[in-house]
Amino acid sequence: MRSAVTEMLGIEFPLIAFSHCRDVVAEVSKAGGFGIFGAAGIGPGKLEAELAWIDDHVDGKPYGVDLIVPMRYESKGAKVTRDDQVSKVPQTHLDFVTGVFNRHGIEGDALDPDSLKRGTRLGTNIRDDGASALLEVAFAHPIKLIANALGTPPAYMIEMARAHGVPVAALVGAREHAIKQVQAGVDMIVASGGEAGGHCGEVSTMILVPEVVRAVREISDIPVVAAGGIVTGEQMAACMAMGAQGVWTGSVWLTTAEAETSPVVKEKMLAATSRQTIRAKSRTGKPSRQLRSAWTDAWEAPDAPEPLPMPLQSIIAEPAMARITRLAEGGHEGARDLASYYVGQGVGLMNTAQSAKGVVYQFMEEFLDASERLTGLTAQD
Ligand SMILES: Cc1cc2nc3c(=O)[nH]c(=O)nc-3n(C[C@H](O)[C@H](O)[C@H](O)COP(=O)(O)O)c2cc1C
Repeated sequence: MRSAVTEMLGIEFPLIAFSHCRDVVAEVSKAGGFGIFGAAGIGPGKLEAELAWIDDHVDGKPYGVDLIVPMRYESKGAKVTRDDQVSKVPQTHLDFVTGVFNRHGIEGDALDPDSLKRGTRLGTNIRDDGASALLEVAFAHPIKLIANALGTPPAYMIEMARAHGVPVAALVGAREHAIKQVQAGVDMIVASGGEAGGHCGEVSTMILVPEVVRAVREISDIPVVAAGGIVTGEQMAACMAMGAQGVWTGSVWLTTAEAETSPVVKEKMLAATSRQTIRAKSRTGKPSRQLRSAWTDAWEAPDAPEPLPMPLQSIIAEPAMARITRLAEGGHEGARDLASYYVGQGVGLMNTAQSAKGVVYQFMEEFLDASERLTGLTAQD
């Protein structure tokens, strides 16, 4: 199959798979799609190890790396340490989390100071120095795409990509953002609708894709790929019928055999309907779609504090979720009720665990069936 995206990335089928799991990235690329490794939560040392592993297992097929360097976050531009960030977390929020834990049978303080300090790497990686360190590592590998979420990629990201001959992709949730990204010089727009797992806007994929395709077409010939809620080949065909040159997916890989998703969360996802997700700020401080659970319900309750701005909310939420997941895996019922993870509304269609390669092949079959169905509608007898 040929589209602007298969040409740009050197792939057979324009199905892009975002994943934090190196095995998923390698398997999708080997099956003819394109794996893109999410690096926002890890440090440069771990990224180096993960990319070296992918290089050894991807049979020379192309893959990419994704970062999160937002336009806006707490203390942007200031020099802050991890301790500074932790000291900005109000006691009210820590007490609230302890209250939620205690109500679900998890005794004692929810979060000790050490776990807050260890927490997530996100607070470091979203800063220019953290992101630059990751980019140095990424560009030392044969990556074929670098992507950025939550804002226009910083100029140094685009310059480094140009120097290495690597195209830059940017995720957008609104037409206006797509125009800004084109003006900033990106090579591919990922139009991600509000159904998507993880950070997402409010506009649905069905509306956003044609809106962005039309707006981009007026000013540039760079490709637009569709994201948000796409978990089948029929949906992929529909998005390409709307002018997308490929699709970008995240949720559908979470229940594959290779994914590192906790078995407890995987089981919840396989059983969930499309109505069991919520778009909320309680995980990172910016709206992100997650599996609805007792944890997300607690943050929606009238007594809940306002989530903190990025990256402070993650300093609480990530160690809390890590502890919840560990306890849930050990059989703790209260923790099981609280367990959650990012996932999109497509979760309602994710009902069987498959291999990553199996998902790619199923997309291919469904895409062909859908294309034939459409062609059949206009065929002359
Ligand atoms: C578990 C999970 C984590 C995500 N983390 C990131 C991230 O770090 N960077 C990013 O650009 N997008 C991230 N996303 C969004 C995906 O790149 C993608 O846009 C989204 O998953 C598409 O919608 P879908 O989940 O309905 O397929 C994440 C999505 C999921 C499900």
